[in-house]
Amino acid sequence: MTTYAAITGWGKCLPPAVLSNHDLAGMLETSDEWITSRTGIRERRVSHVPMADMAHVAAERALACAGVSGRDIELIVFGTCSFEDQVPNMASGLQQRIGADGCAAMDVNTACTSFLYGLSTATALIRGGVVRNALVVGAEIISPYMDWTDRNVAVLFGDGAAAVVLQASEGEQGLLAEKLGCFGDAREILRIHGMGGAYANQGRLYGITSWQFEGQEIFKRAVLGMSEASAAALAKRDLTADDIQLVVPHQANLRIIEAVAKRAGIPMERVFTNVQRYGNMSSATVPVGLCEALEEGRVPKGGWLLLPAFGGGLTFCAHLIRWGDRVTPLGTAEIELPPCDRTAVELIHEVAARKVTRAADPVTS
Ligand code: ACO
Repeated sequence: MTTYAAITGWGKCLPPAVLSNHDLAGMLETSDEWITSRTGIRERRVSHVPMADMAHVAAERALACAGVSGRDIELIVFGTCSFEDQVPNMASGLQQRIGADGCAAMDVNTACTSFLYGLSTATALIRGGVVRNALVVGAEIISPYMDWTDRNVAVLFGDGAAAVVLQASEGEQGLLAEKLGCFGDAREILRIHGMGGAYANQGRLYGITSWQFEGQEIFKRAVLGMSEASAAALAKRDLTADDIQLVVPHQANLRIIEAVAKRAGIPMERVFTNVQRYGNMSSATVPVGLCEALEEGRVPKGGWLLLPAFGGGLTFCAHLIRWGDRVTPLGTAEIELPPCDRTAVELIHEVAARKVTRAADPVTS
């Protein structure tokens, strides 16, 4: 008998501090009008806690939604490119927090597509009989890595996390087809200097980030990659755009989303967007979008969803999901983030101050 991997739980965690375009216009040479018209973004969140805390809250909410506990989980796939730790990985820390003792735990980094590559990994391991269930996380904390003096990038990103629970199922649902790819020749169009082993033990440069970012080239490759991947995924199931009830795309720029929808022949009424409120949360955008689409009653029982995405690398993908019969949570979790006593602007100033101190003093870097 064929085994499928149903999505039975979903949960999100958005940090409370809101950074508006007007806040940014007070810090950088930019304006609400420029940011809104070029990107659609009006505000984004800045986290006052480590990413691991956001991921934990999202995971507990997803587990409660599925009506399972951490002890039931056999695999954690943690999608992120903003690791707090590389060794040990983020997934092992989450394992401890949710009490999934002994389960398999891996991180996946394909930048903004990390959640979806993780969903492919977990689904394949369930469908192949290696595990019966899994927790897949998309979480990012971009704010500490941001160069808050660079208007080309500072206006685009935000922090957030979400998670889904997958369970083995006999019904044909969950992720049923996907196309994964990468334009490796374009890997230099998005590079964050100061992250990773190239900077380890090099003295003052370690952890001091700056962004190499060719916005227009990323835009073109993003539309191309997401469009081609969407067409390839639909073809695998012999589906057309008319069969798709809802598109939940990666949320980097409203104009990119509109271009992909147009190429696919899907009207914007069938496309979920929240980039206006959160900006680009990298790997967290698609699972947060999925959670909010469910909360808003936009995911029909048995409906087909298309999830196209792109990220640094330049990775791209599109996933076709057939939703199951349940579109409401089985339960809720009590867990909350600790309250935040600072504004988003104050949080950013703290990051900027740390950066200046560390750059000036290699001994503490
Ligand atoms: N405020 C005001 N002016 C700005 C800002 C800003 N925040 N940023 C750039 N500008 C200026 C530029 O300096 C330029 O000025 P110039 O004409 O005097 O040189 C002008 O605005 C136009 O810049 P463009 O790059 O042509 O603007 P464009 O319309 O291409 O929009 C943008 C730029 C929003 C970055 C767009 O190219 C884009 O969204 N690209 C994709 C980026 C993306 O999605 N990145 C994330 C992908 S990777 C991942 O998801 C991890």
